[in-house]
Amino acid sequence: MKRCLLVLLLAGWAYATPAPSTLIANVPGRTTVSLNGAWRAIVDPFDNGKSAGFFRNEKPRSKGDRVEYSFDASPVLNVPGDWNTQREQLMFYEGPVWYRREFSFHKPANTRVFVYFGGANYQTSVYLNGEKLGEHEGGFTAFNFEATSVLRDGENFLIVEVSNVRRADAVPALKFDWWGYGGITRDVMLVEVPTVFVQDYSVQLARGSQNEIAGWVQLNGAQSPQKIALEIPEAGVHETLATDGTGRASFHFTAKLELWSPAHPKLYDVILSSGADTIHDQIGFRTIEVQGATILLNGKPIFLRGISMHEEAPFREGRAFSREDAQTLLGWVKDLGCNFVRFAHYPHNENELRLADRMGLLVWSEIPVYWDIDWSNPATLASAEAQLRDMIARDHNRAAVILWSLSNETPVRPDRLTFLTKLAQDARELDSTRLITSAMNHVDDTAPAVRTLSDPLGEVLDVLSLNEYLGWYWGRPEDADKMQWKSMWNKPLIVSEFGGGAQYGRHGDADEIWTEEYQENLFQHQLGMVERMPNLAGLTPWVLMDFRAPARMLPGVQDYHNRKGLISNRGQRKLAFYTLQKFYKKLADAGK
Ligand code: GCU
Repeated sequence: MKRCLLVLLLAGWAYATPAPSTLIANVPGRTTVSLNGAWRAIVDPFDNGKSAGFFRNEKPRSKGDRVEYSFDASPVLNVPGDWNTQREQLMFYEGPVWYRREFSFHKPANTRVFVYFGGANYQTSVYLNGEKLGEHEGGFTAFNFEATSVLRDGENFLIVEVSNVRRADAVPALKFDWWGYGGITRDVMLVEVPTVFVQDYSVQLARGSQNEIAGWVQLNGAQSPQKIALEIPEAGVHETLATDGTGRASFHFTAKLELWSPAHPKLYDVILSSGADTIHDQIGFRTIEVQGATILLNGKPIFLRGISMHEEAPFREGRAFSREDAQTLLGWVKDLGCNFVRFAHYPHNENELRLADRMGLLVWSEIPVYWDIDWSNPATLASAEAQLRDMIARDHNRAAVILWSLSNETPVRPDRLTFLTKLAQDARELDSTRLITSAMNHVDDTAPAVRTLSDPLGEVLDVLSLNEYLGWYWGRPEDADKMQWKSMWNKPLIVSEFGGGAQYGRHGDADEIWTEEYQENLFQHQLGMVERMPNLAGLTPWVLMDFRAPARMLPGVQDYHNRKGLISNRGQRKLAFYTLQKFYKKLADAGK
């Protein structure tokens, strides 16, 4: 009996869905008080702050008082912003930093207040007026804690401990090819909401329909069933919904809509109101489906002319976070002739997602289940599930997002397949309107010039994605001319990475590594090859811009940068930029 019970318990672990997200949807559409700016910060390499009680923000009350820390006397760090690029001595720092923000606040009547973080890397603990509000794990997902009962009318202090220490059981784990920029890397704000408010909602076209809107609205704080008005004035939609006892209302209705697309990124003003709460969101309506090995956008085949990019700030480097960063980076993506962008390898900031919605850029969004992680650890799975849930919770109303990606270059192992299969199940339960993919790099070399994509993960995905570095990590660029590729599935294939390093301004023969000519030559041969790949539905070559990476230390060439960018981190375009731009123009002119 016991054994059977254990099996049932384990099975239960394998199929429990993650707890619902507590994220407040559409914070840009909310009443907020920004807490961005200069925060006092204590660098705490031995994590002394917990035992010393930094979160109490103590100050000596008499000349005999022994308080061995002082936020008032500590230097500042700007929020948002990673600490690595704000102070030379913090460039390589891995450890906790304690931040403090003092602020005055006067709470309006019948209002609840939440402290909202766009993101902080990696482990965060939040204290308000000496009381712990909560903890968050994950470097790239938004989170919020209710502060209503802890806020004082007048002077308050918010203290946040952030640690970017890597852990073998974390997501990502100990090794990844980007800088582990630590800190409060995105906006912080107080969000004011009525006592009963619209916490989350999904307003999208039903899968496969171009005129049926289906979704749900979730209230927070409702003690009894409530009425909700859902309006899309420009589409003549005025729906009245009724919530159940849990504050949730589902709906579906028909509407005549101009569909969102890269050529016509049409956004509608969607208004949700219930009781004292009214919020506006700008939502596009489109369908995304797979038919055999073709991806259909609004029922028509689309080829994804893309590029991969990190959330690396242009020019200044460091973690990008601002609207200006997003404008620059996505402007470059558009200059390349792209209709698609892969936000590697973690959820990017909301400014990028909202801008992609407005610009008509289709988006691949992914969680940092990267290379090898602790596949058999339930806590690791829980962290990945929470990051997936919160990525979807923030962006599931953004028409631009068409693909949720579960992982990048993970080893072919049974426990990894179980782990990722569970994530795929979660993603489909959380959002039935989008496609699921993962970047794989396991191929069988069935013959000298034949490679077959055979990763069993392919069975689980809607869209296959392949990272292959022919001409850089294996073979010569010219070998691409004869390479044949096969796939075990009749599913759309995205080549999610190929590329090679080049130092901007370094010139030489096409066979001289690190020259722009080497990278240009590699792209020319690669592009000729990928065009011959079966079921090719898109590509996102690696990578838009050079970015900081701890394992790229070749002095005078890399200097801790991955140089596979088509653009240098100073915004200088390399020869291969124009190779890809020309290739995409040829496709676009041919209506692809
Ligand atoms: C890997 C990985 C990227 C990495 C790139 C490289 O496949 O997906 O994160 O930066 O290839 O090696 O440059």
